[in-house]
Amino acid sequence: VLVQQFANTPNTDYAQQTARQTAQQAIIQVHSQLGQTYWSWVNGQYLQTETLVPSVNPSNPDEIIGHIGLLNSTQADTAVAAAKTAFSTWRHTPASERIACLRRAGELMAARRAELAAWIVLEVGKPLREADAEVSEAIDFCYYYADEMGRLDQENNDTDLPGETNRYRYFPRGIALVISPWNFPLAIATGMTVAALVTGNCTLLKPAENSAVVAAKLAETLIEAGFPAGVFQLLCAQGSTVGAHLVKHPDIHLIAFTGSRDVGCRIYADAAQLTSGQTHLKRVIAEMGGKNAIIIDASADLDQAVQGVVQSAFSYSGQKCSACSRVIVLEDIYETFVQRLTEATRSLNVGSADSPDTKVGPVIDATAQQRIQDFIEIGKREGDVALSMDPPSTGYFIGPTIFTHVSPDAQMAQQEIFGPVITVMTAKTFSEALTIANDTDYALTGGLYSRTPAHIEQAQTTFEVGNLYINRGITGAMVARQPFGGFKLSGVGSKAGGVDYLLQFMEPRVVTENI
Ligand code: NAD
Ligand code: ALA
Repeated sequence: VLVQQFANTPNTDYAQQTARQTAQQAIIQVHSQLGQTYWSWVNGQYLQTETLVPSVNPSNPDEIIGHIGLLNSTQADTAVAAAKTAFSTWRHTPASERIACLRRAGELMAARRAELAAWIVLEVGKPLREADAEVSEAIDFCYYYADEMGRLDQENNDTDLPGETNRYRYFPRGIALVISPWNFPLAIATGMTVAALVTGNCTLLKPAENSAVVAAKLAETLIEAGFPAGVFQLLCAQGSTVGAHLVKHPDIHLIAFTGSRDVGCRIYADAAQLTSGQTHLKRVIAEMGGKNAIIIDASADLDQAVQGVVQSAFSYSGQKCSACSRVIVLEDIYETFVQRLTEATRSLNVGSADSPDTKVGPVIDATAQQRIQDFIEIGKREGDVALSMDPPSTGYFIGPTIFTHVSPDAQMAQQEIFGPVITVMTAKTFSEALTIANDTDYALTGGLYSRTPAHIEQAQTTFEVGNLYINRGITGAMVARQPFGGFKLSGVGSKAGGVDYLLQFMEPRVVTENI
């Protein structure tokens, strides 16, 4: 059988002057729309609320991107009730109709890609090229999960016998709660939400508070694409209170979460409690953090390795779960590598995310900035500072920082920092490098730069990560090509953008008929 390969959406080619002009115009246009108020979309209507919080531009916190109306728990409950009612119809909607809605959503996002990228740049401080790549990923999730639902919906009579038919079919679970992070405000929110919708679940999207305007733009596309009232709902609310309340709600069947380890573990535990009126166990998909390492051995192409580490560690200011935060270098080349890495990093422009020259933008907010600065102080006690760069003074900036001579069990080498800060460690042998790399609670991404076949082979079987990259950077997984996700305390569930992902959102049933 010839299986057609999934074609990923190409990123914008900013070498073209027209693309640069379109991007510039989109930023200007989005600037003219700043400061509006965004409400939750509940049962087919925007629901006004008492509490409003601002979402600000991390590059320039005086600039308010939008005011977000936050729901309280009682209002969130009305959304669950609406989802319950809508499920009685949506569960019987043919997969072809759900798929058609999803394809329309992908088309609408593609038509708005410059605008969506501009909102991402301004609301979460992601430089333009990376914001544009995020829009591509969101579109890919729509088309890929549409294709996947089509594949899973096909009848299969392989197990029939004379006089007996066996039908293995997938049914939606019920009401899905999607809880998304701010760092991929469009792509991750889209991926989890459309997976839940296309598999026939009524879906409540609870986005991170500080990226709710981008979530509201996603909601606009899903509503326009035709997902009915009660089937898709946007719930802007505080995670620690209303999010936690929804996790415990007896009518929620499935929780798809991406975010921090602490919150993911809390959700996993809360969802396991059977509450009054609940007649099912909840399925939890939790994608959490990482402490990702790149190993560089003596045979590596150092130009390639330096470039790969710089890109993996400092793009989006290190605020990717996939980002490199530990580099483990074989001792023969350690000093040379550190020197070249610091020189390459020094040349990065740190600045406002909407400036075309910017390579490293801000971090998300003042709390993150303070947390990362505290880690830098810890790092100064645990190792040597090889590079520290002065960031701009307005905005939530942190200059890229490199530590050396840090022990593998130091806090800097064990805890997720989620900022542009890395430690470069040394190992005597390749096996020791792998031991150090594996010595964390996490198992998300990892990388190896090497031209030694035996090392490449050993890493493939021994490096404990969900996504291993050899001779390339460790961020930027592509839907279908690099299904993404980890294990250990990096998460539980199948890989996003892969063939197993949608199965988690459905219950399989078998019908055997004697004829
Ligand atoms: P976070 O855990 O603080 O918040 C994520 C979401 O959870 C937000 O919507 C928040 O409102 C909600 N939330 C907070 N407390 C809650 C509670 N008690 N109950 C229910 N919901 C609650 O994470 P973040 O700061 O938005 O994102 C950064 C983290 O996400 C990092 O640790 C990063 O590694 C991780 N991440 C992982 C992946 C992955 O695919 N593995 C991808 C992106 C980000
Ligand atoms: N999927 C994102 C990446 O690979 C997190 O960088």
